[in-house]
Amino acid sequence: MKRVIPIAKPVFDREEFKTVREVLESGWLMNGPKVREFEEKFASYCGAKFGVAVNSGTSALHIALLALGIGPGDEVITTPFSFIASADCIRLVGAKPVFVDIDSSTYNLDVEKIEDAVSDRTKGIVVVHLYGLSVDMDPVLEIAEKYGLFVVEDAAQAHGGEYKGRKVGSIGHVGCFSFWPTKNITTGGGGIIVTSDDEVAERARLLRFNGEVRDYRHVLLGYNLLMPEIQAAIGLVQLKKLDGFVEKRRKIAKFYNEEFADLDLVLPFEPEYAKHVYHLYTVRVDAKKRNYILEDLNKEGVQAKVYYPIPIPFQPSYREFGFVEGSFPVAEKVAKEVFSLPVHPALSEEDVNYVVEKVKDILKQL
Ligand SMILES: Cc1ncc(COP(=O)(O)O)c(C=O)c1O
Repeated sequence: MKRVIPIAKPVFDREEFKTVREVLESGWLMNGPKVREFEEKFASYCGAKFGVAVNSGTSALHIALLALGIGPGDEVITTPFSFIASADCIRLVGAKPVFVDIDSSTYNLDVEKIEDAVSDRTKGIVVVHLYGLSVDMDPVLEIAEKYGLFVVEDAAQAHGGEYKGRKVGSIGHVGCFSFWPTKNITTGGGGIIVTSDDEVAERARLLRFNGEVRDYRHVLLGYNLLMPEIQAAIGLVQLKKLDGFVEKRRKIAKFYNEEFADLDLVLPFEPEYAKHVYHLYTVRVDAKKRNYILEDLNKEGVQAKVYYPIPIPFQPSYREFGFVEGSFPVAEKVAKEVFSLPVHPALSEEDVNYVVEKVKDILKQL
């Protein structure tokens, strides 16, 4: 059978299987003790007071903006270079996304360009810690303070990541995480909001469960976006492993950095202010060569992928905004040059060496 090294793979052992069985046997499958325990432990891990678990990272972002009171007529600044949910959450509440170009070395929002995008209608900024690298948060918080804006951290790719020694997710007003199976820890699918603002936490709790305050008493219009108990139980086990997973990712990334140092690749950058958690190990190469390299790596069984080939403003679902090419030159260039390699904790030493060997062979042939 052909060897395939996947770009991502969840890591489970007997503990996850055991806890799923226990929840099933308990018969308590929704709105129960596992979710509450997971909310407390995850929030506390991030250094926030409250956690509100939901069924996806997309829901976490959506509920966060609703809980912050964002709606039609408002503008929210975000990055053009991310998974689509980072901007869709703004549209889902009826507000307008305003994109600011990215920095070419961190791939995160260019913090120098944010202030120019602030208007009378701006209510907040959704920053994304892309690939597991924290945004430079101090300048963002300064602008937010100056104009009275909220800051939501989309930390869907950055569980355990740090900014100046603080865990991401608790630096802005609200942090949102995803537990999709490819993420640094997974619940099989799910998400969570963390915040230290009790009013936002309370509104988010109501919004994610039909606006219910107690049995069949509903005080606001809400959704059912609850995280199931089975998912929370898996999350509790995964959370204990998170620091170990992060260390393994960092170790593999360091090894790749050493091995690829002489190749014609732009390697990931870890600024002084951040602890990168390498949700993705992403490199850049001449755009003309990128797709050949990808094809060859995949032929050799190394599942390399592009995150993300089309900047959000140019997605067909954003056509109505009429963004024109050239509006986000850095994001547009980077989207043509990046590709990511497997860096997850399920990789064996042999897998990592194989990836290195194939990357070197293919790049040297070009
Ligand atoms: C940066 C970013 N934001 C938001 C999401 C949305 O999370 P989910 O897929 O759990 O809805 C993801 C995950 O795919 C993501 O990578």
